[in-house]
Parts: sequence; C-alpha cells; structure tokens
Amino acid sequence: MRIHVVDHPLVAHKLSTLRDERTDSPTFRRLTDELVTLLAYEATRDVRTDEVEITTPVAVTTGTRLSYPRPLVVPILRAGLGMLDGMTRLLPTAEVGFLGMVRNEETLEASTYATRMPDDLSGRQVYVLDPMLATGGTLVAAIKLLIERGATDVTAVVLLAAPEGVAVMEKELAGLPVTVVTAALDQRLNEHGYIVPGLGDAGDRLYG
Ligand code: PRP
Repeated sequence: MRIHVVDHPLVAHKLSTLRDERTDSPTFRRLTDELVTLLAYEATRDVRTDEVEITTPVAVTTGTRLSYPRPLVVPILRAGLGMLDGMTRLLPTAEVGFLGMVRNEETLEASTYATRMPDDLSGRQVYVLDPMLATGGTLVAAIKLLIERGATDVTAVVLLAAPEGVAVMEKELAGLPVTVVTAALDQRLNEHGYIVPGLGDAGDRLYG
C-alpha cells in the first residue's frame, strides 16, 4: 500500500476552512467538492490510458484516451457521497457503484448496509471515496470487498487520515495494489475514534 499526501497551497487553504467549526453545511459541501477535484487530479495520475491516432485540422498525430472499461468510482455512503461530484467532474464517463457502510460509535467496528456495484470487477481500476480514514476499519473492509470481486488497482481518496488508520491499512492490505491519496495526515485519534485535530464528523457536517 502506498500513501500520497497532496502538498498544495490550495488544498491546504480549502482544508483549513473545512476544519473550522464555524463553517456551515452549504460552505462545507462546496469546499469538499472543490477539494476533491484537486485531489482527483493527483489520484488519477495513473489512470489507465491508450494511445490513439487523432486527426487535427492540420495533421494526423497520436493522442491519449482513457482505457475501457472506464474506472469505477465508489463513494462510501453517507459522507463519501459529498465527494462524488468532485470526482466525476474529472472522470465524467466513470461508472459509479455505491457502498453503504457505518461505523458503530461504541465499538468503532464498520458494517456494510448496502452494496450496489458490479459483481465482477476483474482487472478493474477503482477509486473509493470517503472523507475520513480514522481507525481504517471502513476502508479496509471496502477495499477487501473490491479486491475479492477482482479489482486490480484501488485508490482511496480521503480528505483526512489518522496515522493509526494508515498503520491498520498497511498491515491489512500489505502487498495489495492500493494507494491512499489524502489532503492531510493528522496527529492521532482520540478516545472516541475521531481524528485530531480533524474536522469533526464529516457526515454530520455535510448532511446533518
Ligand atoms: C465515518 C467516515 C468513514 C468512517 C471512518 O462514517 O465517513 O466512513 O466513519 O471511520 P473508520 O476509519 O474508523 O472506519 P460514519 O460511520 O460516521 O458514517 P456516515 O458517513 O454515514 O456519517
């Protein structure tokens, strides 16, 4: 597993406003959308492409097109839904699947309550969207499911990651073709499983 922290002043600026407790839901949703588009630019650096011949008004040359099948984008409900438009803005022809997962706030165990995506993901490139990588339980379960279905390349796009969750992912997904792209790697988790300093509960701030 590989982790990529996106180091860019616009990412840092938007993330700082997201973290601010005074930022209201409409602004939080808009900033999440903008931030994801910036992260998506980095996350798609290895998107699969083919070389094609194209004809300009002047000459025949070679160009680049996204390969088929197009990538699958999987937001993890509920908070990941707030990242979908920002991602599909850059990948408008991507197929979209959905995973509904919730973390028990006491045990911090993740469970799946909805799955709507292709059964066969053989050879597919998949982008998973979830704003928070806290204990890592949610993303580990989601990525294992995708890999069991045949995905051969999974990139998780998150806004914030905790070192504890990254360590869990590195252990549980060792040797698998997984990349995490995040806007920041924060300090730690607190006793309630919240990222510190974090931004609070992303689902509540988007939709609560
Ligand atoms: C939050 C967050 C992640 C998960 C991260 O979701 O959006 O999905 O917790 O925690 P983990 O890394 O410790 O598993 P939550 O369960 O609050 O659901 P929601 O998106 O519906 O608000």
